[in-house]
Amino acid sequence: MHLRSRRILIAASVFALMSSATAYADPVEGFELVVNGEMTLVTEAPASANLEGALDTVYSGLLFRESETREMEMDDFSNPGMVFVDQGLDLWNKVDGTDGKSCASCHDDVESLKETRAAMPKMNPTGDDLWSMENYINNCRTTKMGAEAWKWSSDQMTSVTAAISVAGRGEVVNPKVDGAAAEWWEKGKELYYTRFGQLELSCANCHEQNYGNMIRADHLSQGQTNGFPAYRLKNAKLNSIHNRFKGCVRDTRAETFGEGSAEFRALELYVASRGAGLSVEGVGVRN
Ligand code: HEC
Ligand code: HEC
Repeated sequence: MHLRSRRILIAASVFALMSSATAYADPVEGFELVVNGEMTLVTEAPASANLEGALDTVYSGLLFRESETREMEMDDFSNPGMVFVDQGLDLWNKVDGTDGKSCASCHDDVESLKETRAAMPKMNPTGDDLWSMENYINNCRTTKMGAEAWKWSSDQMTSVTAAISVAGRGEVVNPKVDGAAAEWWEKGKELYYTRFGQLELSCANCHEQNYGNMIRADHLSQGQTNGFPAYRLKNAKLNSIHNRFKGCVRDTRAETFGEGSAEFRALELYVASRGAGLSVEGVGVRN
């Protein structure tokens, strides 16, 4: 058998379930994400002009999860990610590094960064690089505190990004995609439609063309990032956006890009722009 036709066979078997009508399940209808009985979040929105011809409506990944998982995210007492948010707030107030400073020394309350999450990633202060929230945090640590950088998906980093995201809960995702960010966005878009790995699957093959369908035991969502960092029941911790990307690229049996790489930052911008109009969920709960 030719290698190419074998690949197609493998890919076909991954999607085997997708072709049968019974396997399709729409995003859940009539569900409202009201957190703590008081804050209603947008989980469904008209797609932005950039997505014309690709998607009409964008949906939070939460709408593709089971009701028990959805309920967990409705209340901070039942959301397992909130424990890490508390740890993030402790780190926020903790003096670290040679300059004797904490995050709070300069930023006061974490609420002062409430607009941060919805705008990420964005161009850095000097305008020559696209930074994720993790880059901003490490820049503050190394150049403003005399502290060590944190690893991209370390417990410290994910808990602090989660605390900042919860402060921005309910803000509408709206990253800047023009100006200097435009070429990053283009690069991210290109990656989104590139077929990776032995399975020759792109992000779009799964998250644009097959959302709503089942892939193995998973109900495919649009692969949005507004619920990140997300608590996953699978590994019982917070997961960064880049860590999630890594898992998805690996599932195509491809070599993956590194967390924090230029490729993943570009992809993060493009994927964030696909979710424009959805609410930042703070810490989402996912499988
Ligand atoms: C083989 C199919 C497949 C491919 C290809 C794939 N993913 Fe995924 N992805 C999944 C599955 C399955 C999940 C878990 C269920 C869900 O939310 O769709 C997931 C989840 C996600 C999530 C989390 C969504 C949420 O709300 O929790 C993001 C973000 C994501 N993918 C991004 C990407 C990106 C970016 C690419 C391309 C680099 C990609 N995926 C490629 C199958 C895929
Ligand atoms: C000495 C003061 C100082 C300290 C300490 C500090 N920061 Fe900052 N931070 C800044 C300044 C100033 C900016 C604006 C960007 C710049 O000029 O680098 C910033 C920007 C940021 C941003 C980007 C916000 C946005 O919306 O653009 C984040 C996120 C951030 N800081 C997080 C942190 C965290 C987390 C800590 C603690 C680990 C911390 N900072 C410690 C001064 C500080």
